[in-house]
Amino acid sequence: MNRSYPNTRLRRSRASSWSRAMHRETVLTPADLIWPLFVTDGKGVEDPVASLPGVSRWSVDGIANRAKEAVDLSIPCIALFPNTQAELRSEKGDEALNPDNLMCRAIKAIRDACGDDIGILTDVALDPYTTHGQDGLVNEGGYVVNDDTVAVLVDQALNQAEAGADIIAPSDMMDGRVRAIRMALEMGGHHNVQIMSYAAKYASAFYGPFRDAVGSSGVLKGDKKTYQMDPANASEALAEVALDIAEGADSVMVKPGLAYLDIIWRVKQRFEVPVFAYQVSGEYALIEAGAAAGVADRDALLMEKLVGFKRAGCSGVLTYHAPAAARILNG
Ligand code: PBG
Repeated sequence: MNRSYPNTRLRRSRASSWSRAMHRETVLTPADLIWPLFVTDGKGVEDPVASLPGVSRWSVDGIANRAKEAVDLSIPCIALFPNTQAELRSEKGDEALNPDNLMCRAIKAIRDACGDDIGILTDVALDPYTTHGQDGLVNEGGYVVNDDTVAVLVDQALNQAEAGADIIAPSDMMDGRVRAIRMALEMGGHHNVQIMSYAAKYASAFYGPFRDAVGSSGVLKGDKKTYQMDPANASEALAEVALDIAEGADSVMVKPGLAYLDIIWRVKQRFEVPVFAYQVSGEYALIEAGAAAGVADRDALLMEKLVGFKRAGCSGVLTYHAPAAARILNG
């Protein structure tokens, strides 16, 4: 293309609002949003998360109401994370396998309240259930062991699928877990239960407020660098994605979001599979803190970041700003 001024004035198409609307290349809709929610014990409880202003942990009845709110806002899917009571946490995280645990009760309450009007995504990893806050089983040296952890994750995934989960989202970064979960779902008759794998999940400083929300930050010893990825690596992310697709993932996730737009772009270009970004807790908290500090208007900040994910190739974004964004989009 041989463009030159003044034949071409790119400002022509920007000169009026109708023309900007007509030339817009990326459109964000509420259907692009997945809303992560924290579940806590009790009844009628709303427990604000101090490090995530505007986000609360809700008891199961409140979670069902949030799901109805999501349906009203045209948000197609919610993601659930439990804040397991301290007494129910253990070295091996057995509560993850309890068919009556917080997660399963929340799934059933949402299904009762909303039927099939909403997708329920559930996180597979042991950190909300272990006394050490790691995502898997640890040996004497504190190392998170891979294959024994995968065996437990399979049972955790089946437990969630049996309670009615629509999308199993393994966030643990163990090798081989997608294949094992996929086989177990097939054998259990859960042919239409999807797997959205946290395929490229980085060992990130942006997860702090989430760990507060699920109550694992106080207990976590060390870090997660032996299983989550080094933020410096991109080729390795493509290898992770290739494996998860081969093992049976229906869609893949890149996490965190904003600092990894290049990964999203490369995954989409290379594999042409549905890619989702997780705009994580620290990213949300920074937008809120920035707005509170007068850096810019909160709504403008959050919408600009969300459209950026779509532009980079995302099919959708997990974001704590989902209800706020949907309200803006619904006008
Ligand atoms: C746990 C899990 C984490 C997040 C989602 N699932 C935290 C972690 O890996 O320590 C982070 C989400 C967020 O920060 O919003 N496996």
